Amino acid sequence: MDGFGRRKRDLRVSLTDRCNLRCNYCMPVEGLAWLPNDALLTDDEILRVVKVAVDHGITRIRLTGGEPLIRPSLIEIVRSIAKLKPRPEITLTTNGIGLAALAEPLAKAGLDRINVSLDTLNPERFLAITHRNRWNDVILGLAAAKATTLSPIKVNSVLLRGINDDEAPALLDWALKNDYALRFIEQMPLDPQHGWTREEMVSAEEIQRELEISHKLTAVGRRIRGSSPAEEFLIGDGPATVGIIGSVTRPFCADCDRLRLTADGQVLNCLFAREEDDLRAILRSGSADIDVQIAQVLFGSVAKKKAGHGIGEPGFQQPERPMSAIGG
Ligand SMILES: C[S@@+](CC[C@H](N)C(=O)[O-])C[C@H]1O[C@@H](n2cnc3c(N)ncnc32)[C@H](O)[C@@H]1O
Ligand code: SF4
Repeated sequence: MDGFGRRKRDLRVSLTDRCNLRCNYCMPVEGLAWLPNDALLTDDEILRVVKVAVDHGITRIRLTGGEPLIRPSLIEIVRSIAKLKPRPEITLTTNGIGLAALAEPLAKAGLDRINVSLDTLNPERFLAITHRNRWNDVILGLAAAKATTLSPIKVNSVLLRGINDDEAPALLDWALKNDYALRFIEQMPLDPQHGWTREEMVSAEEIQRELEISHKLTAVGRRIRGSSPAEEFLIGDGPATVGIIGSVTRPFCADCDRLRLTADGQVLNCLFAREEDDLRAILRSGSADIDVQIAQVLFGSVAKKKAGHGIGEPGFQQPERPMSAIGG
């Protein structure tokens, strides 16, 4: 539990800083200076940290990146996490490229749920946002996921001013038709260009207003929302819902139950933390009490977690790492 009484339940594990897309709010077109292979945690090192975290109260492991599907050992990692006792819930956030082939083996290995990111229904806009012509792969990946036990299938969309900010109602109709649980995410200042402005951002309020033109939305009570960042709305009389994650304008920091592990073994207690705690050196130290030291670092990171991300407050500084290198 942190100093503000928030229990940590959710560990987000980045499996790689690399990606096969270049979403302009996350990664520069030319890519980044990728972490060298020996800087990345090995599968055994990741599992060791996850096991210690689960032993101390973490109940949900979300695999992310960069693009987690490009880690060759992903299925093996999922299978090993699924063997832990108590078994944590295992989820994955992906851009969906390659999911057509991987959905079934992932589900069989023990993956419980999946979030697929898709910002537009227009392949040309997809190319403009991601710099890759892969829209169709994402659609095929989603369809493959639907044919497995993975449920619900969540779709994350970021709306960008002047690019896809007119698509909220169409994305919702498409998601309803295909039985995907759609969530809109406010764009956060985690872009590599450090060009984000609050004025340019498409806000939660704006998204809600836009959706309400064509759909009746009823806010779902907070008790049900729990520590989920999405504010959920029933569509019409339900049961389908849509989520809006107002990370900037409607922050959920007061309920935050998350910790993060980067692909190079750093613990972050917030997406916007500027301080990192190193686990890689401990993992490679050869000491006799590595697990104890890992636990100490995790508890220490939790203990110093701030009350909120502070976006918009005087002195706020965007972290050096862009989103892809933190793990979204
Ligand atoms: C960093 S990605 C990693 C996983 C995977 N590559 C994907 O795209 O789903 C995780 C999520 O973060 C979101 N994201 C990335 N940069 C963001 C930003 N600056 N603001 C808000 N969301 C962002 C993406 O849209 C995606 O849904
Ligand atoms: S949002 Fe995901 S898919 Fe897009 S560049 Fe970042 S890591 Fe890659």
